[in-house]
Amino acid sequence: MRIAVLKERAPGESRVALTPETAKKFAALGATVAVEEGAGVGASITDEAYREAGAEVGTAAAVVRDADIVLGVQAPDVASLNGAKPGAWVAATFDPFREKDRVEAYAQAGLEALSMEFMPRITRAQSMDVLSSQSNLAGYKAVLTAANEYGRAFPMMMTAAGTVQAAKVFVMGVGVAGLQAIATAKRLGAQVSATDVRSATKEQIMSLGAKPIFVESVAGIEGEGSGGYATEMSEEYQKAQAELVSGHIAKQDIVITTALIPGRPAPRLISDAQIASMKPGSVIFDLAVAAGGNVEGSQPDQVVEKHGVKIVGYSNTAGHLAADASALFARNHFNFLSAFWDKEAGKPVLDEEIGTAVRLTQGGKVVNERLATT
Ligand code: NAI
Repeated sequence: MRIAVLKERAPGESRVALTPETAKKFAALGATVAVEEGAGVGASITDEAYREAGAEVGTAAAVVRDADIVLGVQAPDVASLNGAKPGAWVAATFDPFREKDRVEAYAQAGLEALSMEFMPRITRAQSMDVLSSQSNLAGYKAVLTAANEYGRAFPMMMTAAGTVQAAKVFVMGVGVAGLQAIATAKRLGAQVSATDVRSATKEQIMSLGAKPIFVESVAGIEGEGSGGYATEMSEEYQKAQAELVSGHIAKQDIVITTALIPGRPAPRLISDAQIASMKPGSVIFDLAVAAGGNVEGSQPDQVVEKHGVKIVGYSNTAGHLAADASALFARNHFNFLSAFWDKEAGKPVLDEEIGTAVRLTQGGKVVNERLATT
């Protein structure tokens, strides 16, 4: 059983899918682990550290040769997997709804693509869930970045020269990233409020000491779809939400948006008119910028200034904490494969529930149901 890890090639990708810690753990299961030279540089991991953990370090071609499993953060190009065993597994994020051509290319190449972002939201898969592990870090980094762009302080400070007012932070979308954003902003001393379409988040917001801002008056709303994900809301709801939020946003100093709907563009939460209603010097961090953006005019990896308000958003927010993001991503991979490790076969054998959820391609075909319907 040979597990290969390549250096990530996507622009700006600093993370790596293996750490010395997980290399050792895979070796303890009996696997040979091979990693491309320089793969860990962006996450401050040296080739030497991988070697000490028992991994082979070599060129991309040497690493991939005869690999049974390739691990990635973002799925590698099919061309770079030449030489892997026929039917080799590739476990990584595939962005399957948007990167259909890549999924098709994996099928054509006879590879088995395992999409880590399709991990089901069930208790036993929590430790394998890269969306959670990366979103948590992203929520934290979003607040720090917004604080950095903000020309004022977050906590209230009473000094001899006068009082500095606490910043008002509003978090829109209270999933994993949003909860961490609330917690981080609270720790920095801000006055925090938050909203979501899933009413279950109201209690979570309050338990973190923040104020929930919710549309109450529209009948029949419950924004929770399958697997804990949000659904698209009715026009009536969207209108009521926009009105409520408009009044609130105008009084905020910092807004962090995190709203995502799987397989669809991110919902638009903040319009240009709402940006114009904010005070000059306010900052918006759009965590959904790579999925089309929650904020009108946001641009990946740029600070856009509109009406005196800075709009910030990274295409890869967790990648700005590459060492921790890699450590958690690598553990997600290990938790996934080791949970299914068949000692006699000396390799992982996926069960029906998780296998069917994450498998995109098999036997030369695209096999995932979620892709068949979109
Ligand atoms: P996400 O990244 O898909 O979306 C972020 C947040 O935006 C969600 O809370 C969503 O409800 C919200 N949102 C969507 N449209 C919105 C709108 N128009 N206005 C305001 N908010 C909007 O969500 P994430 O972070 O992945 O988590 C969603 C839920 O799933 C959470 O309850 C989380 O705890 C749960 N979860 C469970 C896992 C497991 O059991 N293995 C793993 C990951 C998450």
